Amino acid sequence: MRVAILGGSFNPVHIGHLALADAVISTLEYDRVIFVPAFISPFKPDADAENPQDRLDMLVSSIAGDPRLTVDDCELRRKGVSYTISTVADIIRRYCPDGKPGLVIGDDLARDFTQWYKSDEILEKADIIIARRIYRERMDAPVFLFPHAALDNEIMDISSSNMRERIAQDKNWRYLTPAGARTIIEDRRLYKPLSGGLEELEAMKKNASTRSFAPTVAPFSQIVYMENEVRRLVSPSRFLHSRNTALLCYDLCVRYGLDPLKGYLAGVVHDICKSFPKEELFRLARKDGEEMTKMERKKPSLLHARAGAALLKERYSIQDEAVLEAVHCHTTGKENMGPLAKIVFMADKIEVSRPEVKPSLRELCVRPRIGLDELFAVVLEETVTFLMAKEQDISEGTFRLLDSMIRKSKR
Ligand SMILES: [Fe+2]
Ligand SMILES: [Fe+2]
Repeated sequence: MRVAILGGSFNPVHIGHLALADAVISTLEYDRVIFVPAFISPFKPDADAENPQDRLDMLVSSIAGDPRLTVDDCELRRKGVSYTISTVADIIRRYCPDGKPGLVIGDDLARDFTQWYKSDEILEKADIIIARRIYRERMDAPVFLFPHAALDNEIMDISSSNMRERIAQDKNWRYLTPAGARTIIEDRRLYKPLSGGLEELEAMKKNASTRSFAPTVAPFSQIVYMENEVRRLVSPSRFLHSRNTALLCYDLCVRYGLDPLKGYLAGVVHDICKSFPKEELFRLARKDGEEMTKMERKKPSLLHARAGAALLKERYSIQDEAVLEAVHCHTTGKENMGPLAKIVFMADKIEVSRPEVKPSLRELCVRPRIGLDELFAVVLEETVTFLMAKEQDISEGTFRLLDSMIRKSKR
């Protein structure tokens, strides 16, 4: 196997690093690129690198599922300043590559290559690959008087230091780094110094757009994981419905002062059992200890709500009672539902991909000063009317709920 080494701080990793690795593999016939994060880079001894574990985790999560890429933590384990020659020797010893390993260096650093520690020995042991970083045209680059391969990679106007600035200012950074790294940055609040103390925190809260709520119900990584699970388990159109429900839940939670990410999570998972076979629905639904109603026996697909709550608890260890309740009663509703359950119930019925929803109902959702219960009563009434028009069965529970909600909203 032919391997190439790509070292750096990866503080944080960004799409430029991955595109570079891809270019090495696809244009120079290497089989695998080994990312080697530096503990302290000899080139940036003063740079205050983020926790090595964070940098390693971001890298590892960014290359998931790509067997052509790997991460080696030898420099992090060695600690201190790592010299390239030690890393090259170590990689050869452990990976036993075919031929010399490639060693990718940027054209900015290559200028001083001959002054690197034991550069002659590096040249003996590795094939130098010079990647474009600052010289757009090959003819502008200095002449490198040592054996090397010139990589014809694209220059991307993106660097880790630039990424750190963007993240600190929360400015257009999220899709310049792979999804895995992005969720780690959000979950661990990396690169967001709070040097100004409380005042700065307050200012940040004030300016925070609705997009930047800190996760409380679950880390972003878990929300992403659950969303992918739903995508795996339901049909593509059901998935779009789930995602749209999640977004409307999010917006309604913002509106009614609930944790929007909790709403998002509940919305995205509410139909997780929708494609499960009947037997599985019965098995899961029984776990809540409630009786099977006549209607559920007649129409087992209704059980996907109860089964969903059980599955979330059993297989995915989701413990949040409000989320579980919301999933549990999203089809028929029940009396004394909590606010999140009401929101999920409504979002499920009126999200943007439901074609039959009256425009006036959607407008109601954005009308100022309509209370949650009032909105819920209207949506519930519309839902019942809609089901009756389609001559579908409606559970007694739903009727009772409708009755109590209408009474409540008229009070
Ligand atoms: Fe459902
Ligand atoms: Fe649904």
